[in-house]
Order: sequence, then structure tokens, then C-alpha cells
Amino acid sequence: MIEFFEADEIEKMRPAGRFVADTLTELRDDIVDVGTDLLEIDAFVRDRIKSHGATSCYVDYHPSFGSKPFGHYICTSVNDAVLHGLPHRYRLRDGDLVSLDLAVNVNGWVADSAISFNVGQPRTDDQRMIETCRAALDAAIDVALPGNRIGDISSTIGNILTQAGYGVNTDFGGHGVGRTMHGDPHIPNNGRAGKGMTLKPGLAIAIEPWVLNTTDRYRFDSDGWTLRSADGSRGAHMEHTIVVTDNEPIVLTERA
Ligand code: MF3
Ligand code: CO
Repeated sequence: MIEFFEADEIEKMRPAGRFVADTLTELRDDIVDVGTDLLEIDAFVRDRIKSHGATSCYVDYHPSFGSKPFGHYICTSVNDAVLHGLPHRYRLRDGDLVSLDLAVNVNGWVADSAISFNVGQPRTDDQRMIETCRAALDAAIDVALPGNRIGDISSTIGNILTQAGYGVNTDFGGHGVGRTMHGDPHIPNNGRAGKGMTLKPGLAIAIEPWVLNTTDRYRFDSDGWTLRSADGSRGAHMEHTIVVTDNEPIVLTERA
């Protein structure tokens, strides 16, 4: 079922967006660096969620592809891992590529956002993937206008990723957001312009392009969660939660 939220409901979603955005900014700028353990990142997020009186969307999350409930507070995907990285004991090394994906419930409303960045020395290939995902996300947000369709978002993402030379895998993509983390509609990271549901004011969605450097294939780790490239190449992921309005979309998870 697709829900359209009223203006007062959208206002109530803002604190979740702010919380997720601020947490990711703080992690990137002040917490995550060469030498940081992924479990320290998870503990930081756990404590920040608790002290804010918010609740995690991840801890008890148990979809069909997960072998067990996620059991952690943030996805930490490193290097050839790109999505759903299960935090584990690992100290980040110089040049590692980290993707952090966070969805939190604040006062009954959810926001979902992801960023990728290098710790220590940036790598050219990684920066290119990150910039391409960012460009795809920005362009997709720009076409999230009433009267346009889901296919316009999907094709905008797919075209930018493809033109940059990346393969596109549509098994995981964007989704409706609201009182829960995942709702309809599904938003594939590729598709045909002019197709699919028509966007209307009040639609809240997470848009989340991701790429792998030299493949469009992945495998899961034995932890049942961490999604890794099939060929060992690295991956990047960028995600925002937005709301379609009569005018420009509201980016609930916009970072300072
Ligand atoms: N937030 C992710 C998404 O963008 C989902 C992560 S599910 C988890 O849809 F349980 F693995 F964290
Ligand atoms: Co998402």
C-alpha cells in the first residue's frame, strides 16, 4: 500500500531525518577514522539512539534474506562490502572505503540515509564511485516532482551509473518510508522513464543508488547479511529520505 502524508505528518518526520543526518555527519567527521573498530561505530550509534530516546530500525529487523535478526544499530560495509554490512571486530585501515547506512525511528517516524567515504588516504577509484552515486542521487531527487513517475527516478539513476561505466544491479533499491523503514513503492536503480506510479505530494521515499566498481554481481557473507561484490572490487552507496511536495522535494536527511 502506498501512503501519502499530510503536511503536519511531514513536519513530524523532520526530527528523524535530522537525527539520522547529524549522526552520519558526526560519524564521518569525528568518529570514524583509521584505527576505528566497526563495533565502536555500532556502539556509538547505539548510545546516541538511546540518549536521544529514539529506536533502532535494525536491531530486530529480520527480512527473508537475513539468516537472523540484524542485531546491530548501523550497517558498516567496508571495501568490497557495499550493503547491509554487519558490524564486526575490524579496525579500519588507511585507504579503506566505508559505507554507513542508518535508519532510525524518532517519535514514530523513520528516516533512512547512507554515505560512503574513504578513511585516511582517499583513492581515486573510490572517489569516482562515490561522486557518481552522489550525482545519481542528486539528479534523482531533482526529478522527484509531482507528475513525474517512479520510472523517471529509476532511469535517471540508471543512466548516470551506466554512463559512468558501472554495471547496475536492481536487486536492492529505494523504497517508501514513513512509520516503518520499508514500504511501497520499490524504487529500482534502473528503469524506463515515463513508466510506473505517478509521484504525488506527500509521497516519502528513500532513494539509494549503489555501485560496484567492476561487476554487477554480489554474494552474501556467511553472516547472512553483508553483501559483497562477486569479484572483490569495492562499492559505494548514497541514500537520502525525501518527500515529494508541490514544489521541490524536501530532503529530510540533508547533511549540514
Ligand atoms: N537501511 C537499509 C536500506 O536502505 C536497510 C538495511 S537493513 C539492515 O533499505 F537490517 F541490514 F540494516
Ligand atoms: Co533504504
